[in-house]
Amino acid sequence: MEFLDLPPMLGAAGTVRLPGSKSISNRVLLLAALAEGETDIRDLLSSDDVDRMLDALRALGVPWRREGDSLNYRVTGVGGPFPVKSADLFLGNAGTAMRPLTAALAVLGGAYTLRGVPRMHERPIGDLVDALRALGCRIDYSGQPGYPPLTIGTPALQLDRPIPVRGDVSSQFLTALLMALPLAADQAPAGGIVIEVQGELISKPYIDITLKLLARFGVAVQREGWQRFTIARGSRYRSPGQIHVEADASSASYFIAASALSTGANDQNGLKIEGVGLDSIQGDIRFVDAARQMGADITGEPGALRVRPGRWPLQAIDLDCNHIPDAAMTLAVMALYADGPSTLRNIASWRVKETDRLAAMACELRKLGASVDEGLDFLRITPIAPGGWRAAAIATYDDHRMAMCASLAAFNPGGLPVRIQDPRCVAKTFPDYFETLFGIAQPRANVPVICIDGPTASGKGTLAGAVAARLGWHYLDSGALYRLTGLAARQQGVALDAAHEPRLAELARTLPLRFADGRVWLDGQDVSEAIRAEQAGMDASRVSALPAVRTALLDLQRAAARLPGLVADGRDMGTVIFPTAPLKIFLTAGVQERAERRHRQLQARGVSVTLEGLCADLQERDARDQARATAPLKPAPDALPLDNSRLSIEQSVEQVLAWWQARQPF
Ligand code: DC
Repeated sequence: MEFLDLPPMLGAAGTVRLPGSKSISNRVLLLAALAEGETDIRDLLSSDDVDRMLDALRALGVPWRREGDSLNYRVTGVGGPFPVKSADLFLGNAGTAMRPLTAALAVLGGAYTLRGVPRMHERPIGDLVDALRALGCRIDYSGQPGYPPLTIGTPALQLDRPIPVRGDVSSQFLTALLMALPLAADQAPAGGIVIEVQGELISKPYIDITLKLLARFGVAVQREGWQRFTIARGSRYRSPGQIHVEADASSASYFIAASALSTGANDQNGLKIEGVGLDSIQGDIRFVDAARQMGADITGEPGALRVRPGRWPLQAIDLDCNHIPDAAMTLAVMALYADGPSTLRNIASWRVKETDRLAAMACELRKLGASVDEGLDFLRITPIAPGGWRAAAIATYDDHRMAMCASLAAFNPGGLPVRIQDPRCVAKTFPDYFETLFGIAQPRANVPVICIDGPTASGKGTLAGAVAARLGWHYLDSGALYRLTGLAARQQGVALDAAHEPRLAELARTLPLRFADGRVWLDGQDVSEAIRAEQAGMDASRVSALPAVRTALLDLQRAAARLPGLVADGRDMGTVIFPTAPLKIFLTAGVQERAERRHRQLQARGVSVTLEGLCADLQERDARDQARATAPLKPAPDALPLDNSRLSIEQSVEQVLAWWQARQPF
């Protein structure tokens, strides 16, 4: 999917359950791997960055397994050095894997290479490498000095003097040292291993997470202010047995914002965000204070937050965001909806994240119509006047947070859609972000629908499915509903004629359906193949001629129009079911051509039929579908004809997408 278009949204209400915290997940995995004993990890985040850590641990000889399809993992700690002493590790763009693994492997020693995607090779690591070299580690740059890839050798550790580390570029360097040095605690001098932070330590709350997790794994670090940290001689990692990963507080920020931006939702219960409460150990939970300052109404519940829309418009803020570097990005978008200019200060660390977030945010907010001052370490954002919003295609820079932030522009009062480029980059920390958002968001107007109607075997289903996949939309195969009704009737011995119309309509209204993974179940039975049989098509054509059956299936079909959009194929999508749909296509192909396609399909499935027989069947079904009194097969007045006799599937898909694009404001 190249892009995802978000229709304008009005508000958010209901309940969401958020995935686990990335910072906690990757720290816990590494600690569990290094500890003595087995650790049961509950609710681990499932995402690219965590997969990179899991892959690396497996490559290093750490046994772990996932319990079924759950988010629970069992890691068998190695209680010392990794069993595999030489490995080439690919860590993608996962800073939370690169930094701590570099430190741990450098302290333990071996012959390792650590690399990542090109952006990872632009993210600085020199301060960590300097600190590790100062204590005797052997690390070389195999590319540009100061950046990954790195090669690691065997150290000659000198732990008798304080280890200096810079704290003002990324707190992950200190985290990495704190996690690695207990591995050398048996070689420590009597006073322990001392780390001294040089310069002002940024993102202190992340250090707090590290210290809390070290304590859970049996290592108590002594802290003097945020300058000096001491690891006692003889410290050892021991598994806590079981550990639960809180939901990601940074991810919660998008939902807090969505609810705070709700102008139409009159649901008094607001939005409940499950998995993280006000007592979270994650620093980004302090985003709550900032959002409250802007006017959000947030209350804490056990392991959850509840957000109701509060003040409107939001109140402008001027805030030092050093303590919430990731979640502060969300404030930048909220600032578009404020009553005056907002300033986010002390955010220089944004420049060395997944992308240069300061420059990226300034550039993308301007596309929406905002005026933005970009300083070296601050952003000043002037809100957009209600009439000043522009429909924009937002670039995301392979940065999950840029994509999630951009989605909040869809709540704009101008009722404009927002295009998000490369939306799948959210997989870094929140693969189902958009699905989760759509689950609680209220569209401002009708969800967009593309209707593709046409005769039997014209290739509607293939075309509609492909268009839906390209747009990231839902797909409705309305013919399947008539096929299912026919099948249900046959199974229950109900004749498919007008005399049994009320009974057939009742069957259609109460079809015990379940759709999942591209398959369909009728009353617990997988009927995906059964409904594709020729007989089922004929039966469908017969039941579909009965007006009461058609009425019975109306609500089910209309309910398929869910965010972010629907591609629906059938006979009357454009005429009856979605008469106001913004794009309607009437697909045709000669009967001979269609019969040949169907013939090839059936032969591939091992069904033997004659071409002549198929041709006759198609003509009979066309005639019945066109002649019936209710919703006969015919183009809607505003449908665009598409004869695909001479087009490949890809060409037809491109044509429909081009028609759709021509209707977009981007
Ligand atoms: O598209 P299909 O072959 O799966 O459809 C099976 C039958 O269902 C078709 O002969 C006509 C009927 N149908 C309909 O009447 N209205 C629709 N929207 C879809 C299908």
